[in-house]
Amino acid sequence: MNIFVFRSQAELDAKACELVKAVIHSKPQVTLGLATGSSPVGMYARLVDEVKAKRLSFKSVTTFNLDEYVGLPADHAQSYLTFMNQHLFNHVDIDRANIHMPSAEGHDLEANAKAYHDALWSHTVDLQVLGVGSNGHIGFNEPGTPVDSTVHVVRMHKQTRLDNARFFNSLDEVPEYAISMGISDILRAKKILLIATGAKKAQAIKELVKGKITVDVPCTILQTHPDVTLLLDEDAASLLS
Ligand code: F6R
Repeated sequence: MNIFVFRSQAELDAKACELVKAVIHSKPQVTLGLATGSSPVGMYARLVDEVKAKRLSFKSVTTFNLDEYVGLPADHAQSYLTFMNQHLFNHVDIDRANIHMPSAEGHDLEANAKAYHDALWSHTVDLQVLGVGSNGHIGFNEPGTPVDSTVHVVRMHKQTRLDNARFFNSLDEVPEYAISMGISDILRAKKILLIATGAKKAQAIKELVKGKITVDVPCTILQTHPDVTLLLDEDAASLLS
């Protein structure tokens, strides 16, 4: 596992951008797994800057996002599609046909999950970007999620809903369910880049790096992946020796 600890958010974002850019430049067609949430926001801003400066193009990039809330229309201000449009897709030259988000609309969510799984597994994900929850979740794979899980409908833990309530007017407005890539989907990626900042992530990062591998702390399974890079600030790294 490669672990980088940064003094400033700007340095962390620059490194994240550099790593994603290197993957995009590594071959003609690239597939990225992407995350929402606060952790990758600065990285997306830098990638947008690179595209605007014509040092990077997303023309050859296909994306699969980790997850989407159930119960919010796709154009809702807090849907993950809206997030991705605002932070990345609207500002880069990606072909919209190459953007994949789990669909949380309609009545047959299991069928949506299956369709997303099939689309995902028809690609090799070159790099998966992750954040981590304060309870160790990756994607919305909450504690207890089996290692062989694939794309599925999840009921989010109270802690996750509390953590995400900052984006909504109240906790009641935070959806209870989401569709998420499973653990086995995440582990399939050739490279994994996980970004974590803030003291609230310190315990999860400690478990990720040197805890026992257990479904109770889903991020610990990343110890089994051959190519994981962690980009941390000093607070998130504070429980590592
Ligand atoms: C987001 C996702 C989540 C977040 C995690 C951390 O697509 O799957 O696992 O990465 O909840 O969120 P932030 O970055 O907001 O602390």
